[in-house]
Amino acid sequence: MTNEAMFYELNWDEKPGAPLAPWTYSNPELFELEYEALFLRRWQLVGHVNDLPQVGDFITHDIGRDNIFVVRGKDEQLRAFKNVCRHRASRVLEGSGTCNGVIRCPYHGWIYQLDGSLMAIPKNENFEGIDKADHGLHEIQLEQFHGFLFVRLKGKGASVAEHFGDTGRYFEMYGVADYVQCMETTTQIWNCNWKVAWDNYLENYHIAIGHPGLSRLVRISDVGATLSSGVSFGEFDLRSKPSNVAAEREYQEMVEHAQARIPEEIRNKWVQFGLAPNLGIDLYPELLDIFQLIPLSHDKTMIRATYYGHQDPTPEEEELRRLNIRVNAPINDEDQQLCARVQQGLQTHGYTPGPLSYMEMDIYHFHEMIRELIPVAALKKSPLRGQVAAKNFELLASH
Ligand code: FES
Ligand SMILES: [Fe+2]
Repeated sequence: MTNEAMFYELNWDEKPGAPLAPWTYSNPELFELEYEALFLRRWQLVGHVNDLPQVGDFITHDIGRDNIFVVRGKDEQLRAFKNVCRHRASRVLEGSGTCNGVIRCPYHGWIYQLDGSLMAIPKNENFEGIDKADHGLHEIQLEQFHGFLFVRLKGKGASVAEHFGDTGRYFEMYGVADYVQCMETTTQIWNCNWKVAWDNYLENYHIAIGHPGLSRLVRISDVGATLSSGVSFGEFDLRSKPSNVAAEREYQEMVEHAQARIPEEIRNKWVQFGLAPNLGIDLYPELLDIFQLIPLSHDKTMIRATYYGHQDPTPEEEELRRLNIRVNAPINDEDQQLCARVQQGLQTHGYTPGPLSYMEMDIYHFHEMIRELIPVAALKKSPLRGQVAAKNFELLASH
């Protein structure tokens, strides 16, 4: 099946319909359904092949309450597993690093091979009739896309490459398959439902007012698209008018140093990708940043930023990367504040949502995706407490 056949470009001629009702942003029971239907069943970016180049190297990754790890086996293959011991559920690995030939659970010492099979059990005679072949680590789906590693914990369906379709050529143009991590990962806790943060990521309507610095640096171009797979992308053109803010102006002056590595077509641009429900990828000439929403609860979301780039930056490119972080940090802080204000507003008694503009069309498409996967989310009013999952089940059955 070709990419084009899998997903179609969404129609921008249609009028945006209503957004999700306010109750869906503060309901713990709906949060559980979303976690299951979206976070466990859609591809999650967990790292890059260059994060674990040697046999035994591993990385772990939080998706929410679930944690997974990827490890490079003795056959050089990468495999992904749920990070849970088959004995009594201890997490087997922490952080990232290198396993010394095997994976040993820190609780009672069960030993697994790097391919996940159970190799040895201390005091094995205490487990009557145990068959080690039945107790290997749970492997999960893993896919490489231009060097990036994606996992899917549940369900089947289109590959990552099929989700991105033709837009994958951007990753080719930047050469991200060779990238390495180039700055420290940062995390923040935002006081909002994860959908508030994702809605915000999806629309550019707020940029002119909400992000004065970003507005000084870029202009929204009309190159972009939204696919029915939940992938959206858009290009921003860097402005040539010098900013009156020093760091921004320095960035403008230095950006030419990173342009030689990339094709003409993407020079002087910032390109932004989204993959619903929680992955943003920002492609700059000097850097790639990954913006991920980790859902913690119905009103708390962790934001994780990870940075990748060419492994041999020139001193100018390194400086440009530092400037990039300096100009983007306030933009991120502005989004954190804006999202917290929206979360507070959504919880106002009797609030009814206003209309979405054409510039917020991606939000509408995202909300339609949720309504389709979790039909109870389409209701204007919340079901009674304790009834959300049952009502959803009933609606799914009658679909
Ligand atoms: S929980 Fe891992 S060995 Fe017991
Ligand atoms: Fe923003």
